Amino acid sequence: MDKVRSVAVIVGSLRKDSINRKVANALTGLAPAELKLGIVEIGELPIYNQDGDQNPPAAWTEFRARIRAADAVLFVTPEHNRSVPAALKNALDVGSRPYGKSAWTGKPGAVVSASPGAIGGFGANHHLRQSLVFLNVPAMAQPEAYIGGADKLFDANGKLVNDGTRKFLQGFMQAYAAWVAANIKE
Ligand SMILES: Cc1cc2nc3c(=O)[nH]c(=O)nc-3n(C[C@H](O)[C@H](O)[C@H](O)COP(=O)(O)O)c2cc1C
Repeated sequence: MDKVRSVAVIVGSLRKDSINRKVANALTGLAPAELKLGIVEIGELPIYNQDGDQNPPAAWTEFRARIRAADAVLFVTPEHNRSVPAALKNALDVGSRPYGKSAWTGKPGAVVSASPGAIGGFGANHHLRQSLVFLNVPAMAQPEAYIGGADKLFDANGKLVNDGTRKFLQGFMQAYAAWVAANIKE
């Protein structure tokens, strides 16, 4: 087996019963052994304000340290008004500063979006990719993951009950493991 790599998973929803959190949990269970996934929470991050760079809130510092400590980053997000949820954009901004000290830079990334809607959060997925270009996060191009009809994929206990989706997500994580191995900065 290749060396084990740690993956910071960022869930773009703060909702208790979030579909995207269920997708993230499913991905954690389906990941190959060389990836160790852990969710890094974003719900308690104060809104980014450049004035805070001199004396940053502890939550910003802790978040930046957790991203820095990870080998790779995986985003699992809903779409809000055809774009990235505000909490996720805030997390990107917090992690990107102070200027020149971004925690994101060089971490191999991947994006999954999920929605009850048919197009599976495509808009959020691609707006997020735009930021990742600037943040120097090499984001896996294929396979793309827009999970539509996602409210129908889990049972009452949050367990993935759709075999086709399970197979797809498993393949996605295998491709991501290869992407991480090929793009990691030692
Ligand atoms: C403010 C807001 C905007 C939304 N905009 C979209 C949208 O643009 N596209 C979409 O597919 N769903 C949209 N939705 C519905 C979400 O996909 C749905 O609430 C989904 O369950 C959110 O993901 P979560 O379950 O992980 O929280 C929106 C929901 C909210 C609260």
